[in-house]
Amino acid sequence: MKKLYIEGNKKLIGNVLISGSKNAALPILFMTILTKEKIKIGNIPKLTDIKIAIKLLKSLGAEIIYQNKFLYINPGLINIYSPPYKLIKKIRASIWMLAPLLIRFGKTKMFFPGGCKIGTRPINLHLNGLIKLGAKIIKKENSILAYIDKPLRGQYICMEKISVGATITIMSAATLARGITTIENAAKEPEIIDIAKFLNTLGANIIGAGSNKIYIKGVLKLNGGEHQIIPDRIETGTFLIAAAISKGFITCQNTEPKHLKNVLKKLSQTGAIIKTGKNWIKLDMRNKIPKSINISTSPYPGFPTDMQPQFTLLNSIAQGKSIVIENIFENRFGYVKELIKMGAQIEIKKNYITCQGVSNLFSKNIFSTDLRGSATLVLAGCIAKGNTIVNNIYHLKRGYASFEKKLNKLGANIQYL
Ligand code: EPZ
Repeated sequence: MKKLYIEGNKKLIGNVLISGSKNAALPILFMTILTKEKIKIGNIPKLTDIKIAIKLLKSLGAEIIYQNKFLYINPGLINIYSPPYKLIKKIRASIWMLAPLLIRFGKTKMFFPGGCKIGTRPINLHLNGLIKLGAKIIKKENSILAYIDKPLRGQYICMEKISVGATITIMSAATLARGITTIENAAKEPEIIDIAKFLNTLGANIIGAGSNKIYIKGVLKLNGGEHQIIPDRIETGTFLIAAAISKGFITCQNTEPKHLKNVLKKLSQTGAIIKTGKNWIKLDMRNKIPKSINISTSPYPGFPTDMQPQFTLLNSIAQGKSIVIENIFENRFGYVKELIKMGAQIEIKKNYITCQGVSNLFSKNIFSTDLRGSATLVLAGCIAKGNTIVNNIYHLKRGYASFEKKLNKLGANIQYL
């Protein structure tokens, strides 16, 4: 298992090019199963979860090539309806193959998905949505068998809980159903809008994505098409934190400031000077120590759970006391014990932590726990006193494209051991 060696006490200053959104690209890749025609996708981030998604599509028979920064997919060749267990278990996103495979073949056998261990992460809302549209689903110990004997039928579906993943599953299934599906209490994340835009490019009829009510009028067939993935708002937020905790100054380019309104509001409350343009964000924290801020995670447009660990790191070196409440996942404080080893004064309560800022963190041999937790620990290493080793960086590579290279360009010194 690879480790990172990180020299501490760095100020992170410069420009960073933001990659395409992981959490938009993954479902969009799997939505290509819904058509037999050729697809061209731009701004695909180069990270391990995407590589696994491509392997999964290839394992079904799809032909995929990467050329001149575009991914060319020919899903017409897909002829296998059951993807391999060993790949499905590697990523949470594999759940988004269920509906497209079911619709294409009338049947599928899937395994329960993998992904970060940040909570129980059930899939009941995905399955209930498909059942409501007319699918028959049999759950076995670790697999799911799904069948349809006629096309799915549009329905009114009110989600009992806001779920990004289940909204995506239902939206994709309803695209080729007969009649109109309404998803009430839908997730409103920018990634949902991007997926709807992609499906509409192929000929789907989806309106309302980005609001809490999405209408999908089923069409008979999807065509081919071209799509550009939106910028990664969580990668952007992570780099803004890198500057905010290191008395740094950063320009994030190729990003979408509108997708980070809540994050930027919180960052300006810490004392950072923030400027935004059409596709860039500048954050200036030179000669300043951040003020601590309280955070409470909630579905978009609320404060993102995927930025919770990074803001906890900021609070751990900020002036004052803070509370960070995690409302989405039950187990998203795994990284906190590593920060405590480095000198952070944090207490974990039930679904919240209290934090008293300290003036310095100290280098240690630490272990990454999950994707966003890993990025947080690498950033902690960049500002700690001494040289830190972060073990288990597999998680980091799953979700950030060239994270250490981008940080090194900003003045960090991070090497593989
Ligand atoms: C997506 O996960 C993202 N993953 C997560 O990003 C992100 O944290 C999360 O949305 C929330 O924004 C991907 O896009 C691959 P949910 P997802 O369904 O779809 C409960 C990262 O670091 N729930 O919105 O799994 C669930 O337990 C990752 O990039 C059910 O109860 O999240 C949670 O409490 C981590 N039943 C809440 O809903 C279900 O069937 C929200 O989960 C589904 C979810």
